[in-house]
This record gives sequence, C-alpha cells and structure tokens, in this order.
Amino acid sequence: MFENLAPLSGDPLLTLIGLYRDDRRSNKIDLGVGVYRDEHGRTPVMRAVKAAEQRLVEDQQSKSYVGPEGDGAFVEGFADLILGSRRLYAGIQTPGGTAALYLAARLLATNCNRRIWVGTPTWPNHLAVFADVGLEVRTYEYFDPSAQSLCFDKLVEALKAAETGDAVLLHGCCHNPSGADLSLEQWREVAELLANRGLIPLIDVAYLGFGNSLKEDGTGFRTVLDAVPALVAASCSKSFGLYRDRTGALFVTCNAETNSTVLSHFVTYARSIYSMPPAHGAEVVSTILNDVGLRADWQAELAEASARVRSLRALLAEGFKAWKRSSALTEQKGMFSLLPLTRQEVLALRCQAAIYLPENGRINIAGLSMDKVDAVIEAINPLFGWYL
Ligand code: LMR
Repeated sequence: MFENLAPLSGDPLLTLIGLYRDDRRSNKIDLGVGVYRDEHGRTPVMRAVKAAEQRLVEDQQSKSYVGPEGDGAFVEGFADLILGSRRLYAGIQTPGGTAALYLAARLLATNCNRRIWVGTPTWPNHLAVFADVGLEVRTYEYFDPSAQSLCFDKLVEALKAAETGDAVLLHGCCHNPSGADLSLEQWREVAELLANRGLIPLIDVAYLGFGNSLKEDGTGFRTVLDAVPALVAASCSKSFGLYRDRTGALFVTCNAETNSTVLSHFVTYARSIYSMPPAHGAEVVSTILNDVGLRADWQAELAEASARVRSLRALLAEGFKAWKRSSALTEQKGMFSLLPLTRQEVLALRCQAAIYLPENGRINIAGLSMDKVDAVIEAINPLFGWYL
C-alpha cells in the first residue's frame, strides 16, 4: 500500500541527538540541540520542579480530563510571567511551544492574508510548522553570521513591504539560532511599524530568563504587546527545564470579545489535533508560580544557569579573540550563537574533533562545560582564518 512512499529526512536538530548518542568517542562534545546542561553535562530536573512534583504525588486527587484549553491556573500564572500583569488576553495551554506555534499558524493560515514574514536564519521547525498549515512564508535576512550583526534595516524594509493583515514572526528573546536580539530602541521602532501598518505579530518566547534575567528578557517584546494586538507562543521547556513534559501556552491579546472568539478557534483546533494537553508540566509550573518559596528557588536556579552561559560566552570570546567579531559572542543572548562555518567545516569538526553542532554553524553554548572550552576553541579557531 505504501510502497511508493519516499522516506523523509528527519528534523536536523533531532537527527543530531541520535548521531551524538551513537558516537563512542569519550571526548565528544555536544553543542547541538538546545537544552541546558550543567557543568557536569547533565540536564537537571530543577529543584523547584522536583519539589512541586513531590507535592503533586501527595496531593493530586484525579487524572480525569482537563479539556482542550488546559489548566486555567497554569494559563493565568504563565500569562502573568510572559505577558506581564494587567493585560487583556485569552490563553490556551498547549503541548509545548511547538503546538502553540502550530495553533497560531493554523489561525493565520485560515484568516487575514494567510502570509507570514520570517527573518532568516530561524529555528527550522518554524518553517516546517508554517508549511504544514499552508501559510505563505516571505523571508528577509535577519542576521549576517560573518559580520555577526543583526540586519535591522532588512527587518524594517520587510515590515514596510508587508501588507496590512500580514503576520510577522518575532523571537521574543534569545534569538534562535543567532542570540542577536533587538535593542529596546529597535523593539520600539518595530512596535510602531507593526501598529502603523496593521501587521499581526506572532511572538515566539522559548528562552525567557536565559538572556539577562526574567524581567529584562521580557521588556523588549512587551513594547509590541503595548502597541498592537498579538499572538504569543510560549514554552516552559527551557525556562522550567520541562522539555519532555511538553508544557507551553498560546496567548492572544486583542479586546475581550475578539480574544474569546479567537480562543474558541484554538480550542477547536486542539480538540481535533491532540484533544487536550498533558497536565503534568502545567501543574508543576502553576505550583511553582503560586508558591513564594518555590518561585524564588526556581528564579535563583534559572539565574544561575543563565550566569553560567554568560561566563562560557566570555571564555569563548576570549579564546576566539583573533577573530575580529569575537566580542559579539558576549553581547548575544541566551544559549545560541551562529558561527560563520560552512557545512564542510561543521562536518569536519564532527568527524575530526567529535564536536557536534548543526550544519548551519549554531553552537549551543549551554551544552559546554569549563573543562571543554579549550578543546572547542582549539578546534574552531583555525576555521576563522577567512574572517579575521
Ligand atoms: C533547538 O532549537 O535546538 C531547540 O528548540 C530544540 C528543538 O526542539 O529543536
């Protein structure tokens, strides 16, 4: 029946997980998929998550259905964290940030102009999700890896070329894959352009807290929320370390009536795709957010993680200092930076030095430990010859 099906190549980041796992060399280094690792190379269950889970084991009374909109207490607490308080919104809990993007993309693909503007490079799954729902994607250059600079003029040009009713994908903070975020001034300009031109922002917030702090990481994209109705897809994978528990949410910020209409569409899509989201991660997050002690401990641990990433950034920049763009690494935010490496160079690093990164040259700095920094610097430094 399916003899004529051609096999599909898997997602590049997920494929890399398998390649790394199967490498038997003891000196291998994983700078691939975007998960946080501690100094010992572990992706820990955060302390507050463990404590909340213990409480849930004791207190949970039922495993009955939660409904397609998910856990109301989670949606409320997470909305406060992501959107900032006192904002009119409607929200739905989703299985991770990807499902939130998917529901948003499906709404956009069936309404307004069915078109979205995407700065490149971006997370490859953005393009896969948008293609899957039949959204027309218009791209513009967001980041130039050899100059290590954000192409803000190209973003502005794209916003000026977009038509009223077009959607625009924006990375809320810690841009994936470049780490190059907009400055507050640039966010303000973007917010004004979006409002003046009647564009619909879809803001992907997957790394809140991994840039400077929970508070600062939200300041830029919230200027957009102040200026114009928006869709916000948010993930708990990184900020709460809940990767496999698939915990996220999608928010819409229009007026009360439109919000509830839009929500009814999300709920209907959810029901036919996955029916309802898994409860566990959401209960963990709402337990943490509603308990002063757990919340403080979670924030402290997240702050430690992001501080670790910033110190690794400083060490890498120092090690790469012969490369004249190296200081950009310390200005970039979050787990990722995008090095100007060719596919061949990336494959050579994998084969000769057992250093794993995706073919676009993205490095997950959070995957590094202090004792491996020198090996990475030594292997990558000679490749900067072209860009000195
Ligand atoms: C990444 O970009 O590596 C992460 O967002 C993990 C993923 O699902 O691709």
